[in-house]
Amino acid sequence: MSDKKVKSIILAAGKGTRMKSKLPKVLHTIFDKPILGYVLDSVNNLDYVSENFVIIGHEAQRVEDFVKSNYENTKCVLQSPQLGTGDAVNKAAPYLSNFDGYVIIVCGDTPLITSETLNSFIDFHDHNHADLTVMSAIFDNPKNYGRIIRDKNKKFTAIVEEKDATTEQKSVKEVNAGIYCLNWKSISGAFSSLQNNNAQGEYYLTDIVKWAVNKNLNVQSYILENNEEIFGINSKVQLAQACQILNSRNILKLMESGVQIVDTQSTYISSETEIGADTIILPNVYITGKNKIGENCKIGPFSHIRGGAVIGNNVRIGNFVEIKKSIIKDNTNVSHLSYVGDAELGSHVNIGAGTITANYNPITKVKSKTIIKDGANTGSNSVLVAPVTLGEMASTGAGSIITKDVEPYALAITRSPLKIFSQWVKNKIEQYSGGSK
Ligand code: UD1
Ligand code: CA
Repeated sequence: MSDKKVKSIILAAGKGTRMKSKLPKVLHTIFDKPILGYVLDSVNNLDYVSENFVIIGHEAQRVEDFVKSNYENTKCVLQSPQLGTGDAVNKAAPYLSNFDGYVIIVCGDTPLITSETLNSFIDFHDHNHADLTVMSAIFDNPKNYGRIIRDKNKKFTAIVEEKDATTEQKSVKEVNAGIYCLNWKSISGAFSSLQNNNAQGEYYLTDIVKWAVNKNLNVQSYILENNEEIFGINSKVQLAQACQILNSRNILKLMESGVQIVDTQSTYISSETEIGADTIILPNVYITGKNKIGENCKIGPFSHIRGGAVIGNNVRIGNFVEIKKSIIKDNTNVSHLSYVGDAELGSHVNIGAGTITANYNPITKVKSKTIIKDGANTGSNSVLVAPVTLGEMASTGAGSIITKDVEPYALAITRSPLKIFSQWVKNKIEQYSGGSK
């Protein structure tokens, strides 16, 4: 496969009416990552894919902003108005006029598609020297999908949309999964000949099958093994279902690699979180974004890791602790009720209960760093106002607000002197009950 040139087209211009949202469908997130991001990542993980085209239309600017700020090798192409999937692909054609390689087409709303499946799909196309390969799937309830039509000799000849299908065609259980691999040179001619004389008045991408069969080109179908992978998101119910499927997949993979997960039902871990063997994840842990967690750690219960965390070995992240974009070295404990954001914690650090790294200035909108060196510890309820450094082995007193750097081995304390008034409560009670007589 490595000698083949591959580009992708991702269809994402549709409105997604059933999401009932102001946000375009493909920007709805699972673990803080838009569903379009999952599709782009699966495609980009095939290292031989050199360029992607995302077809945008509905809320085009917002989708383009996401793509531009996250994917270098990806161009957005506007389709307005949206005249169908065939018209959508055709919008990318001007950018591919001299391209001699494969084009894969994927829908932007199927975040569960894996690189492994796309890879074996493209391999299949390659091995069969096909001009066009369509991914198909067998569904007991094929409703709403285009049906794979075969002739008497089982030869794949066409795709018929549900709305255009005869009763006999509707009984077919093999459906079009909506993923295609095209030899661009031999198939691109199909797009200018597409017609919209069908039930939906759209230019159907699926009609390229008939076109290629009529030209005696080599048209293949690749049957998907795990139907979950083409699960498309059209509603918030399906968004939640996709999150569950993805989460189960991530958790299973982690357990197989040696991570102990106590309650698989209440644990949520993003696909881009790596966790070392013998780390224990306790119930109600929510981990989003990209993170690296070492071996033999204990996370939870009730911890929230928000992305950008790089956590070493033997680290304890306890209950009601939130970690964001922070480095935490080996043998450090953040055991209870703390917020650690934009921070660097050395090894053997002990963070007392209720410690807060005050990293954000809401007026300047600047985020600053807190650095806590090896062996340092914070007393309960310390507030570290960033930018600030706590030196090696330094200590803060409980309840202190630290606004200046603390030198190694020093104690920093901002507590006001304790005063004790003997008999104060007793006197008050007497005064009060005396007055009411
Ligand atoms: C399509 C297929 C159907 C297949 C199904 C698999 C066609 C005609 N039918 O149907 O055979 O079983 O996918 O999920 O292709 N889009 C655009 N521009 C448009 C229209 C759609 O970018 O003008 C995008 C949508 O945003 C979506 C994707 O294309 O991401 C699929 O479009 P959709 O209308 O949902 O196609 P289906 O009716 O599901
Ligand atoms: Ca649809």
